[in-house]
Amino acid sequence: MKIIIATGNEGKMREIREIMKGEDVTVTSLKDEGLENVEIDETGKTFEENAIIKAKTISEVSGEIVIADDSGLAVDALNGEPGIYSARYLGRDTSYDYKNNYIIKQLEGKEGAERSARFVCAMACVLPDGKVITTEGTIEGQIGFEQKGENGFGYDPIFFLPERGKTTAEISPEEKNEISHRGKALTKMYEKLKEEGVL
Ligand code: IMP
Repeated sequence: MKIIIATGNEGKMREIREIMKGEDVTVTSLKDEGLENVEIDETGKTFEENAIIKAKTISEVSGEIVIADDSGLAVDALNGEPGIYSARYLGRDTSYDYKNNYIIKQLEGKEGAERSARFVCAMACVLPDGKVITTEGTIEGQIGFEQKGENGFGYDPIFFLPERGKTTAEISPEEKNEISHRGKALTKMYEKLKEEGVL
């Protein structure tokens, strides 16, 4: 059994490989498949729509089972931004050091619950017969006052978990996978694929 993960994001790929480690499936990336240059038009208005677009595009060119994730950070004080534009926020090539500091600056003067935010992950799986299965996972947190930690990727250094007193860049990859938006969405996806008799 092979599943292609439709992402070019190394951080996501690392997490998904780790979560799927124990399962009897071969997980390949777009790079492994030589599909990294396939153009995907992320024109959806929601995480779910974009996840479906990504999975369908790669399913059409490969004919294999494909899982795609569309995820991002939603900051309540910024009306849910950067949201579905998380990767493109302030420019796709802008460093996360800059993006993270920018968000911290936007929240100046806000305390506690006023800094609430969540990571959201929508996952879509397209089966070879075209059937689409979707799941979603979220994790609640707050925007930290400074960047902390070296683990993870993207916005992890500013995603503070009040109950742990740490950011998602300060906890271990295993711990993050147990509680993260992506971990939750993938666990639900497993359950659905088992119900479907795919796994
Ligand atoms: P996508 O590849 O279009 O789904 O964009 C996802 C973007 O959301 C990433 O490039 C990050 O900016 C952000 N993001 C999603 N999940 C995480 C996470 O677990 N940690 C940090 N940033 C994340």
